[in-house]
Amino acid sequence: MKTIVLLFVFAIAIATSHGFDLDHGIDNNMDSPKLRSFSRNHYDYDITCSSWRLGVEANNIIRFKTIPAKCKDYIRNYLLGDQSRADIKAVLSEAYSYAKSLDIIKAGNYTWVFDIDETLLSNVEYYADRGFGTIPHNATAFNKWIEKGKLPALPHSLKLYNKLLALDIKIAIITERPETQRKITVKNLRNVGYLKYDKIIFKDTTKGIYKGKTTLVYKSVERKKLEKEGFRIIGNIGDQWSDILGTSRAVRSFKLPNPLFYVA
Ligand SMILES: *[C@@H]1O[C@H](CO)[C@@H](O)[C@H](O)[C@H]1NC(C)=O
Ligand SMILES: *[C@@H]1O[C@H](CO)[C@@H](O)[C@H](O)[C@H]1NC(C)=O
Ligand SMILES: [Mg+2]
Repeated sequence: MKTIVLLFVFAIAIATSHGFDLDHGIDNNMDSPKLRSFSRNHYDYDITCSSWRLGVEANNIIRFKTIPAKCKDYIRNYLLGDQSRADIKAVLSEAYSYAKSLDIIKAGNYTWVFDIDETLLSNVEYYADRGFGTIPHNATAFNKWIEKGKLPALPHSLKLYNKLLALDIKIAIITERPETQRKITVKNLRNVGYLKYDKIIFKDTTKGIYKGKTTLVYKSVERKKLEKEGFRIIGNIGDQWSDILGTSRAVRSFKLPNPLFYVA
């Protein structure tokens, strides 16, 4: 009897140790038998990881250090398959439609802001080598990779970049990369086809003004400076919400997909 009571207490302890379980008491078979006949059970695994990815893209899931280990293959397939390319293309086609719809005057200082990593250039190769986001960020290893200056362009971003230039829109690049990586970054950008821009802003880490500040704050301050110089920010593209939210926002901002990591 004592053992049974103990087991019972133990079972309750386990059940409650998971904290707030949203599934508890919910009948997950709400669909009608007809709807259920359309569902394919072998998608269950993907649905969990695609819900996670949707949560990340919608800025509901934040501050994650690594992706869920069980989603490694899902993220690999997403990034290396057609879906990621299609998602990126959809975002950038929309951005171009918007830019084209504007009445651009050459002297009007119409400006488009771009982020670099995972926006103009891709680090997918680096993350492929390091478990597709399942391993915590290693700044030393990442900087080593950046210093090689061998990042490829995101093909659709390069295309949009050239189309914006053809529309007489100015380009401003704001990156989280530090001043010390300016030379290799400019070289890398040039080598893959990003030749012309009016501004390229690196994070000044020497004066300490951005010490302890988030990317969201840093990029907001730099956009404000651009505005004061006469740039009119009509568009902004980044792979993190911190690239595009905050103050001095663009008239329209575009979020590229990035299921690999989170930057506040
Ligand atoms: C981070 O990367 C560096 C350089 O590749 C390596 O020497 C170091 O062991 C790594 N640190 C961790 C915690 O994995
Ligand atoms: C464009 O920017 C220049 C300085 O970069 C500024 O003098 C000028 O007033 C700006 N023009 C407009 C229309 O904002
Ligand atoms: Mg980025």
